[in-house]
Amino acid sequence: MKTTGLIEKYKEYLPVNDSTPIISMGEGNTPLVSSRSIISHIGCKNLCFKLEGSNPTGSFKDRGMVFAVSKAIEEGKQRIICASTGNTSASAAAYGARYGLETFVFIPEGKIAMGKLSQAMIYGAKIISINGNFDEALKTVINISKEFDIGLVNSLNPYRIDGQKTASFEIVDEINDSPDYLFIPVGNAGNITAYWKGFKQYKNQNKINNLPKMMGFQAAGSAPIVTGKPVKNPETIATAIRIGNPASWENAEKARDESGGIIDMVEDKEILSAYMKLSNEEGIFCEPSSAASVAGLLKLSSQGFDFSGKNIVCVLTGNGLKDPGTVNTKVVSEIHNIDSDIDKIRNKITSLMER
Ligand code: F0G
Repeated sequence: MKTTGLIEKYKEYLPVNDSTPIISMGEGNTPLVSSRSIISHIGCKNLCFKLEGSNPTGSFKDRGMVFAVSKAIEEGKQRIICASTGNTSASAAAYGARYGLETFVFIPEGKIAMGKLSQAMIYGAKIISINGNFDEALKTVINISKEFDIGLVNSLNPYRIDGQKTASFEIVDEINDSPDYLFIPVGNAGNITAYWKGFKQYKNQNKINNLPKMMGFQAAGSAPIVTGKPVKNPETIATAIRIGNPASWENAEKARDESGGIIDMVEDKEILSAYMKLSNEEGIFCEPSSAASVAGLLKLSSQGFDFSGKNIVCVLTGNGLKDPGTVNTKVVSEIHNIDSDIDKIRNKITSLMER
């Protein structure tokens, strides 16, 4: 059967009307995979990973982008624009290409992962690299979008949030309940806002009785919500969340406070350690930024947080293939170069066998 996508599936929960185009390239319906190894460090009842890297362009952004683009078409827009640390630009460029919208993307110079830049390029976006960070790029595109009447598809666009909230619906639809905790990376804070909106909407519809605690994690060098003030020069290996002044700051705080959750931070070394654990022990290759959710869970657990009896979902926001540079520069893994000689190969194999 043909894939219909999330607008079709969840249209009764979205602001869809007769003139809203039901478009899709197969976004949503991503796997919710049980932990086999990391769960043993946590002592909870269930731990699952929501693999948002399985979306068409490899990140959760496609959920919001498909709906933002649908609404841009409905409004008669010819062009869309965004600022991005990489994934939003990849997603905007893909949907723009597919639906014939001219796409402008603004990126912070030198700070976007190679895979994401390649995506924006191959989909044919007009790419503007600015000598500044994401926060500056966002300010610029907000002004340019107004001046030139171009559809802004950053998460300030409410349709982005509406599309992204469908991830909460999928989790509930799959486990027939709300998780007790949702762990999620926080950058511009649109996604934590979206998940919270989705869970609350399902609760209002009596689809669930309880709401999860929202557990957001920023990278320590880019943690304005944790420190309580904008970070002028944000830095982190997790370039997707290298953001010093999140657009949805207040909504993230609301999600935290209304749910009784927290927004905390994790060091780059904790992010890398979770990134390695996910790959080595679970077979899941996500982006460093995505691993911030699991790094946060491991951090709380090592501090003695009691998760016994609890159901936990960690959102893994993007696919690791987007950022091969981090593997090349940060992960120590030996490649064994030997001659193509059967005896040498036999010796090597024997020396490498662990059991
Ligand atoms: N994880 C990944 C892989 C991301 O790309 C982003 C944001 C986040 C987490 C954080 O989500 O911003 O909603 O809090 N990336 C944006 C971009 C900023 O431009 O692609 P958020």
